[in-house]
Amino acid sequence: MRVRVSRLVVFLWRDGQLVCDDPLRHRQFALTVEAERLLRGYADWAELDGRLAQQLLDAHVLVAEGSPEHDREERLGAWRDLGPAATYYHLASRTLGSDVFRSAAQDAAVLRAKSGQPAPVKEHDGPRIALPPTDPPPVDFTTVLAARRSTRWFDPDDPVPLPAFAALLRWTAGVRREVDVSGVGTALLKTAPSGGARHPVEVYPVVRDVEGLEPGIYHYAVRRHELVRLAPAPGGDRLREWCGGQPHAAQAGFLLMYAAVLDRTVWKYPAARAYRALLLDVGHLSQTVYLTATALGLGTFFTAATRDAPVEDALGLSWPDEVFLGVSGVGVPHPAERDRQAAMLAGGDAAFSFPPDAWHGRGE
Ligand SMILES: Cc1cc2nc3c(=O)[nH]c(=O)nc-3n(C[C@H](O)[C@H](O)[C@H](O)COP(=O)(O)O)c2cc1C
Repeated sequence: MRVRVSRLVVFLWRDGQLVCDDPLRHRQFALTVEAERLLRGYADWAELDGRLAQQLLDAHVLVAEGSPEHDREERLGAWRDLGPAATYYHLASRTLGSDVFRSAAQDAAVLRAKSGQPAPVKEHDGPRIALPPTDPPPVDFTTVLAARRSTRWFDPDDPVPLPAFAALLRWTAGVRREVDVSGVGTALLKTAPSGGARHPVEVYPVVRDVEGLEPGIYHYAVRRHELVRLAPAPGGDRLREWCGGQPHAAQAGFLLMYAAVLDRTVWKYPAARAYRALLLDVGHLSQTVYLTATALGLGTFFTAATRDAPVEDALGLSWPDEVFLGVSGVGVPHPAERDRQAAMLAGGDAAFSFPPDAWHGRGE
């Protein structure tokens, strides 16, 4: 029988030993020096030879040619293109039938035994700007759902009205209520759901053109409904660069940069799977921004095609404690785009929102 090293396991050095991590079965074990040497001979298919090789086969470090394990590697499909890092993360964070889930009461008991809940909100130093306590207009919910679209064609000369900007932040990232969980700490309630009510995502508005606001980089203080000014406005080139060269990023009235404070979620869920919750949290927040912007008559798009490192620098994020995960761009739709979307809603031609010259401008 021919065998070779599994394509799914990962090797890590820990405390001077080589450790094999089998993400499929959530098992880790240290390898002896003999096993480590032997594995080199099985980088490619070779005859199974000896007791140690058999043990490594039984432990799924080696796979046998033509076995179900080999077949599973062959059927990796899209995971092959996603690459080993994504495959490893998915398998390592994928739950198995044997996984034990804690009840809410057990969760609370574990958290009570821990000390020091991380602060549920971030506070920045800097000049504060109070925002008006504006609400979106009353609109029919299904009308908003039907009208929600990604908008990439903004009117670059039409500023976003301050009440709309304030209402958008208040109704997406603002705190609605707070729950005092006895012996655990404070949990925030917002319009978007959040894994474990941890609300790890902080919102950093980058204002280009909002009525009455100096362009600049701000942090939104979710309890006080205030902006804190952090830095001067980046130029259009930088906004485009931050969003993978997409021209509409520099034409939106403002960008909302989403950054997750890891500790908040990891304190409650100290496991690989918590990273999924962070990504999902951003998705829920972005959708809430989509719907609220639609209700306010604004256009919006979300992008994950971002240059993370320069944005982290510009926002002053303390990586790895706070990680930048995505952007919503919001602005006043170009009148022609507004008409086009209205016509589409009424049954006209369906098309994606791009300015007429976008296919030439994209990526410049
Ligand atoms: C995870 C994710 C990433 C996206 N990335 C981009 C992007 O980089 N640029 C962009 O203009 N739109 C982006 N969008 C918006 C999609 O392109 C849009 O939702 C899709 O084309 C469907 O159009 P609709 O939103 O009008 O229904 C993204 C949406 C999601 C959910």
